[in-house]
Amino acid sequence: MKNNELITLSDDFLTVGDTTTPNEKIMESQDCCVFYDEAQALRNINLEVGKKEVLSLIGPSGCGKSTFIRCLNRLNDTIDSAKVTGKITLEGQDIYNSDMDVVLLRARVGMVFQKPNPFPKSVYENVAYGPRIHGMSESKADMDEIVETSLLRAGLWDEVKDRLNTSGTALSGGQQQRLCIARAIAVRPDVILMDEPCSALDPIATDRIEDLISELKENYAIVIVTHSMSQASRVSQRAAYFHLGHLVETDATEKIFGDPDHELTQNYIKGRIG
Ligand SMILES: Nc1ncnc2c1ncn2[C@@H]1O[C@H](COP(=O)(O)OP(=O)(O)O)[C@@H](O)[C@H]1O
Ligand SMILES: [Mg+2]
Repeated sequence: MKNNELITLSDDFLTVGDTTTPNEKIMESQDCCVFYDEAQALRNINLEVGKKEVLSLIGPSGCGKSTFIRCLNRLNDTIDSAKVTGKITLEGQDIYNSDMDVVLLRARVGMVFQKPNPFPKSVYENVAYGPRIHGMSESKADMDEIVETSLLRAGLWDEVKDRLNTSGTALSGGQQQRLCIARAIAVRPDVILMDEPCSALDPIATDRIEDLISELKENYAIVIVTHSMSQASRVSQRAAYFHLGHLVETDATEKIFGDPDHELTQNYIKGRIG
């Protein structure tokens, strides 16, 4: 079994202390565990996501960052072997409750992936699709406004306003990623999840997305997985360090990168800098 090494760590070798909590939380994970068949990928994750904050998830490959971020909008439901236990709430509501509308949940907790994945439809339709299925507009004028506002917020409007009928897939990689962000924004989410959103982009496109993340946090909570410590320092206020399925330490980003409490975090940070 590929994941067996995960279960060789004992539970008590870590002090899984969340030393910071956000001012006002929007999501909370309590004792979240994830199993892929019998292999445990996440162990008792306790973590809060604050309103108007960027929280970065960092740690070595395979430590469970993507698995965790997928728990926050139930994307692991789409993986047959995955089983999630524990409790995850959005504004106090248990998102794994049977009465939770998962389509609505994924609008409220949107996701932006590593590889930009616009629909093979026009720029306009990429953004209008979600609002349409959620019945958010009454008229064409309403929809035009949603599309324009979403593209403006995603910092893409000026580049596409004269070609809203072009296919989303014809845009550059960086523009496609901003289109995916506009698509997420269009359905008025509370939280935007981003799993390594810049790792397929060039440095200039990356800068634009980083600037955008900093602007977006005024209106949304953002959880971002990143391999780049400099990116995490630039965009996030809090950082959570994962290691072999454990959440080792959560703290202000400056503290995590400057003077982390846990040795595992220190080793990771040093290894990354050195
Ligand atoms: N769909 C899956 N099926 C089985 N195991 C998986 C699946 N996705 C991830 N895993 C395993 O779960 C662990 C955590 O993976 P992942 O969440 O992708 O880590 P990260 O995003 O930090 O690189 C790894 O051991 C990985 O092999
Ligand atoms: Mg990942």
